[in-house]
Amino acid sequence: MAAYRYLIAPMALALVASATAGAEEIAFPDGYRTWTHIRSAIVGPTSTAFARFGGMHSIYANPTAMKGYGTGKFPDGSVIVFDNHETLTFQGAELPGRRRFIDVMVKTNGSWTFGEFSGDSRTERSVTVTQGQTQCAACHAKTPTDHVYSQYNP
Ligand code: HEC
Repeated sequence: MAAYRYLIAPMALALVASATAGAEEIAFPDGYRTWTHIRSAIVGPTSTAFARFGGMHSIYANPTAMKGYGTGKFPDGSVIVFDNHETLTFQGAELPGRRRFIDVMVKTNGSWTFGEFSGDSRTERSVTVTQGQTQCAACHAKTPTDHVYSQYNP
């Protein structure tokens, strides 16, 4: 009986571990600042999105995602980055200040995953892939263009 218990406890632990391991995290998008710049925008204090997305953001797409901006269908391997900075006012100009976060969306196996890196960190994730399913995906699902809001106007 006692031996039984020793067998079952580790098995139960292993099951819990595999259930909570979660989805694979998005890798930091190395070199994204050299990708195609899609557009920039400023979200100011009068926006309802200010608390979460306020500041100045720029959007960058890798070469695979650029195919999707043309066709509305993004192939596997598409990566898009939303780079968000605080704004600084200097002599009447609005300049990018401290980086707040970068949001990343990646297309794999026909579906998008979402994640967020905090500040300038390449490792600290302020939104994991699992959290992204609730914090990001629902809003992005409202677009008619394969979950991508921005449009590319060369
Ligand atoms: C309430 C709606 C909403 C939520 C929630 C949201 N986004 Fe977005 N996201 C937008 C909009 C609108 C844009 C387009 C901004 C622009 O065009 O300047 C955008 C743009 C983006 C882009 C650039 C590609 C595109 O769709 O234009 C990425 C990448 C992105 N968001 C990732 C995320 C991640 C990661 C999260 C969760 C941490 C998230 N978003 C949560 C509305 C949302």
